[in-house]
Amino acid sequence: MPIITIEKNYLDLFSEYLYKNMGIYIEDSKKNLLAQKLAKLMQEAGIENAGEYYHFIVSPPISERQKELKNKFIDTITVHKTNFFRENNHFEFIQRNISEIIETSQSAKFTNELRIWSSACSTGEEAYTLAMLCKEILPANVRPKILATDISPDSIRKAMEGIYKFGPEDNITNYYINKYFTKNGTQWAISDEIKNCVTFRLFNLVEPFPFKNPFDIIFCRNVMIYFDKIVQEKLVGNFYNVLGKKGFLFIGHSESLIQIKHQFTYHEPTVYRKN
Ligand SMILES: C[S@@+](CC[C@H](N)C(=O)[O-])C[C@H]1O[C@@H](n2cnc3c(N)ncnc32)[C@H](O)[C@@H]1O
Repeated sequence: MPIITIEKNYLDLFSEYLYKNMGIYIEDSKKNLLAQKLAKLMQEAGIENAGEYYHFIVSPPISERQKELKNKFIDTITVHKTNFFRENNHFEFIQRNISEIIETSQSAKFTNELRIWSSACSTGEEAYTLAMLCKEILPANVRPKILATDISPDSIRKAMEGIYKFGPEDNITNYYINKYFTKNGTQWAISDEIKNCVTFRLFNLVEPFPFKNPFDIIFCRNVMIYFDKIVQEKLVGNFYNVLGKKGFLFIGHSESLIQIKHQFTYHEPTVYRKN
């Protein structure tokens, strides 16, 4: 197959599509990287013509092949880096403040559940870290109910499998590994006890939120950096609406709400609270 080049007008069309449908803003300086990813995707799909590929991606998928192409496109364009106990001070914060979090939680009071949303969960490490932490610190009469969502079908599939290899970046101690995983060859499988605390779903953060019951805690870490201020502002407003009174929003260490309008009270760096 000849080397694939993506014409500028198609790069602009793909960028527009990503922004409108996934909130992802591609700066001009990142368009080369987008072109490389698109060329690789087209190569793998055996499609030489950018127009034909664009048509596949933007049209509603009617065949299995189209569905596969679209899923691969989403999985490849998005960045999935994550780790167990990533940005650990957030988990330490929850541990330190758990009594107050439970006291102010309406769902803990009325349904004995602490409701947490890991809103861009990638391959599941963040949600499972929350579940393990909850098992350690929640009183026996409160159950963790964790929703974990992501736009990437491949990431959600891996998250549901719950099988991992630990690398140097995983901040997970032997205590957690031995208590909540079983060895599976060179990999580790998360226990059913932890899996049962988490529900994984595909969800696009730029779509209207369908939730009926308020969350106590929302994690939205290391995804807002890919959105522009307009999308961030709308998303943070939506988070405010689905949090219960006094609920917490955690964002990534390299993110901030400083430049957008919002109703949250700043609690400490990367931690915000609903009034
Ligand atoms: C870098 S990972 C962050 C994972 C985890 N929150 C963490 O901090 O370790 C970013 C995730 O955001 C997801 N993502 C990107 N755009 C999204 C959107 N519009 N809706 C939902 N998830 C999205 C990607 O698929 C990716 O898995």
